[in-house]
Amino acid sequence: MDLLTDSFSFPINPFLVLIGATLLAFYYMPLNYWARRGIPHVSALRCIYQTLAVTLRTKSFHEMLHEQHKALEGHPYGGAYLLFRPTVILRDPELVKEWLVKGFAHFHDHVPKPDEKSSKLAGNLFALGGDRWRAVRTKVSPAFSPATVRFMHRTLEGCALELSSHLQRVCGAKSEAEIDMKSMAKNCAMDIIGACAVGVNCNALGDPEHCEMKPIVEEIFGITWRSSVANLLTYIHPRLPAWIRFPRRTPEVEQFVAALTRRGLQMSAEERAGRRDFLKILVESREAEKLAAENCGAGGASEDEDPVFTENIIAGVVGLFLSAGLENVAVTVTFCMFEIAHQPDIQEKMFDEIQAMKQETGREINYDDLKKLEYIEQVVNETLRKYPADGYMRRICTKPFKIPSTSVVVEENTKLFISTYSIHHDSKYFPEPEKFDPERFSEQNIDKIVRGLI
Ligand code: HEM
Repeated sequence: MDLLTDSFSFPINPFLVLIGATLLAFYYMPLNYWARRGIPHVSALRCIYQTLAVTLRTKSFHEMLHEQHKALEGHPYGGAYLLFRPTVILRDPELVKEWLVKGFAHFHDHVPKPDEKSSKLAGNLFALGGDRWRAVRTKVSPAFSPATVRFMHRTLEGCALELSSHLQRVCGAKSEAEIDMKSMAKNCAMDIIGACAVGVNCNALGDPEHCEMKPIVEEIFGITWRSSVANLLTYIHPRLPAWIRFPRRTPEVEQFVAALTRRGLQMSAEERAGRRDFLKILVESREAEKLAAENCGAGGASEDEDPVFTENIIAGVVGLFLSAGLENVAVTVTFCMFEIAHQPDIQEKMFDEIQAMKQETGREINYDDLKKLEYIEQVVNETLRKYPADGYMRRICTKPFKIPSTSVVVEENTKLFISTYSIHHDSKYFPEPEKFDPERFSEQNIDKIVRGLI
């Protein structure tokens, strides 16, 4: 009681100062950012707790976004926070299209501009921004042309045959065995992407223990303690991990991809002749670019045009191809197998479609036939709906964006998230969302899906 009386006898009451300072801080600090703008939002304290849970790995990033998406029920968009940083959650597919397509000039980048000097893998299509992304994207796109994919199909066929003999070996005479599908899908995806991206025979299916490339590629985008802490630092300031020299990957990862790239660049024309992989295409594009620069004035590139295919850009693109090709494909195949194991009728329909195609053509399935396997495509689409590999899309605002029909402006550097998982699991867009139903994507039903979701 005395204490209380004493404290009240201070000329300036410390309690009141503290309460006043807290209120002022709450008013002026970003924690009150969305409330001050009158935007529906998830409370800052809840978001801070969620961000810390993601860092401690008790929650995935995609789960956090799903919770924030649900908390904003009834609103087409709303505000949230990544630690203290305000973010926007876009919930309505129509708005997603409007903001990302019509508003492309404001939201073309996925992440803050990378420091290409401090990271050898920073020059990848996912990280690069604005004009640099456009220049690299324009020149890398031919690597995904139908002609290239057709050319690579033979590599895929080889890997498929390898998978078939692997299964026969494992299942033996009884034609059955207990198989860890997740691990098999990952090993098979590693063999395919290793061959298609860099022309390396990984033999992850045959000898997973000695596949040097798999743990390295897993680390590129994988969630580790290091990457979780580095991500938290970027929420404080995007350059903080670089300033304190705490990269999200161990140096071995960059060294490995850099060595692969250098080996590719040193290949002679004869060595390249028999190869069908992205690295070979990138190396040839680099040579074409050099030749065009040498011939400038004779119709080639202009002298002041910076070369796109630098060693770091090639390393970044190769790293992204490897990691995007491994994780997304393995996860999608695993969930697909999981679902069809529970629904043998779907499995049978897929099998019948393949048999019918083989009977009709009198040969094995080739690249052109793949596009005609409509039911299998429906199954893949339904897998990607129920289990979208990444679970969310992200953008960063690069130019202030006025939210249509409001006076609110999304400021530069604000992050924008779209929880594709939440939209795909919303019964408004997909009735009975937990049901795995490939018929949603059949010719008769596909028009019922809200435009923008397919
Ligand atoms: C099931 C398989 C896959 C899924 C579900 C998937 C999903 C995605 C998603 C959601 C994005 C971001 C799109 C955006 O934010 O606008 C993306 C970007 C990208 N993916 Fe994939 N992906 C898959 C396979 C692959 C493969 C096999 C490769 C390469 C060999 C690849 C290379 C890329 C690249 C380079 C980008 C960045 C494109 C750019 O920004 O210019 N992906 N992917």
